[in-house]
Amino acid sequence: MSISAHETGFRNDFAWGAATSPFQIEGTAGRGLSVWDAFCQRSGAIHGGHTATVACDHLNRFSDDVRLFSECGWNAYRFGISWPRVMPEGTGPVSGAGLDFYDRLADALLEAGITPWVTIFHWDFPLALYRRGGWLNRESAHWMAEYAGIIVERLSDRVRHWFTMNEPQCFIGLGHYRGVHAPGDRLGLGLALEAGHNALRAHGLTVQAIRSHSSTPPLVGWAPSGVVAVPESETPADIAAAESACFDMSPGNPLGRNEPNPLWANTWWSDPVFLGRYPEDALTRFGAAAPCVEPGDMETISQPLDFNGAIVYTGSVVRAGTDAMPEVVELPPGFPKSSLGWPVLPASMFWGPEFLWRRYKCPIVIAESGVALNEWPSMDGAVHDPARTDHINRYLAEFARWRAHGGDARGYFHWSAMDNFEWSEGYKDRFGLIHVDFQTQKRTLKDSARWFAAVIRENGARFFHTP
Ligand code: FCB
Repeated sequence: MSISAHETGFRNDFAWGAATSPFQIEGTAGRGLSVWDAFCQRSGAIHGGHTATVACDHLNRFSDDVRLFSECGWNAYRFGISWPRVMPEGTGPVSGAGLDFYDRLADALLEAGITPWVTIFHWDFPLALYRRGGWLNRESAHWMAEYAGIIVERLSDRVRHWFTMNEPQCFIGLGHYRGVHAPGDRLGLGLALEAGHNALRAHGLTVQAIRSHSSTPPLVGWAPSGVVAVPESETPADIAAAESACFDMSPGNPLGRNEPNPLWANTWWSDPVFLGRYPEDALTRFGAAAPCVEPGDMETISQPLDFNGAIVYTGSVVRAGTDAMPEVVELPPGFPKSSLGWPVLPASMFWGPEFLWRRYKCPIVIAESGVALNEWPSMDGAVHDPARTDHINRYLAEFARWRAHGGDARGYFHWSAMDNFEWSEGYKDRFGLIHVDFQTQKRTLKDSARWFAAVIRENGARFFHTP
C-alpha cells in the first residue's frame, strides 16, 4: 500500500537539508585548540589514530561545497560554529578571520538559496576554558553566552535559525562520565551531573543571548540526543509501555538498566528545559549525586523555545510485559544494522517525535537522522548506495506518517551533508549524502543525494511507500 501525496506532503516552509559540525569537516588550520584536538592525541582514543587536522578541508573548499549542496536541492543547511575558531581562548579576544569564515559561508548559502541553521556549540569546547575548569566551572554558562552573543551580533542580519547546543548527553555523558569522547574524563556521577547542570544553564543563557543580540526575530531551539522506544505493536498497552520506557528514570526502566550511561535519558535534560525542573524519579535515583541547583537556575534553563531538534537514528522495541511493565524485545539475529551496529528502526521516526511532542508540546525539527555505511565509488565512477536511499525513505515515510497524524513537523536534516570525521570512530564509517575521498578530497554525490533531491522537489509528497 502506498501513502497518497495528500497524506505525506510537508508544510510549505518545511526545512529540507543536511547537517554537519565544524570539528568533523573544517580542518584545524587557523583556530584555537579544542578538547577534541587534545583527545585526538591520546593513544587509543580514536579509531586508527585518525585526527581531524584536514578532515574534509571544508575551510578551504566551502564555496565548492555550497555549490554541491545546491545541486543536492536542499533549501536549508545545518552547520556548527567552532567556538575556538571565533574565540581562540574561549573568552576575550575575537578572531576576525574566524568570524569572517562563517560570514562568507552564510553569504554563500544565501546566494545559493539555502537557509543557514546554525548550531552554536557542537562539542569542540575551547581547550583554554577546559583548563579553567570547563563545564565544572559555573562561569562556563556565561562563557558560552558571551561567545553566542558575538556570533549573533555578526550573523543575525542573515541567520534566523539557531540551535544552542548539540547533544549534552554526549559531550557530558560520553565526554565527562564515560570518558570515551573528549575531554575523556570519568568524573563520577556527581561531578558529571554538576557539569551537565552548567551545560543546561549555558543553554538557557545562550537562548537569552540570541534573543537579546539578534537584529531580526530569531527562531531558537536545541538538539538533544536521547533514547527512543518503539512499541512492538500499536496497541494501547504496548504504546503506554514504550512511552514510559522513553521517560521513566527509575532503575526499573529496562532501557535505563541496559544502558551503562544514565545520562542518556530524555527527561534528565529535556524536563529542565521545557518543564523547568529535574524529573523526580531521577532525583530519587541520583540522591546526593544530584547537582546543586541555585535560585534562578531553573528559570534560566527553561527559556521558551521555538522548536525541539530531535536526533533520531535508532531505538529499542518495547512491549508491555508482566503487570504492563515495559519489557525490551530482543531483535532477531540478522536484524538490519548500520556499519556502526545501530539497528535500522524506521518507526523510531514516528514514535520518537510523537513521545517528545506528547510531553513537551514543542514543534519538531529532525536535527539529525541517517545511517553509517561503508560505500565506495563503483567502476562507473558513481557512488551507488541503495541502502542509504532505502533508509531515508523508510525513516521519512514514518515521519510523514507522524505528520499525517497531526504531528507538528518543521524540518528534516540528514546526517550528514558529506562523509566526515566521526569522532572516536575516525573515518571508518560514512554518513554523507556526498562521498569524500579523504586522500584526494574529491567529492561525489551519492545516488541517495540525487534521490533525496527529487523528494525535496516534491516536498515529500511522493516516494514514500509502505509495504
Ligand atoms: C550525533 C552527532 C553527530 C554525528 C552523528 C553520527 O550524535 O551529533 O556529530 O557524529 O551522531
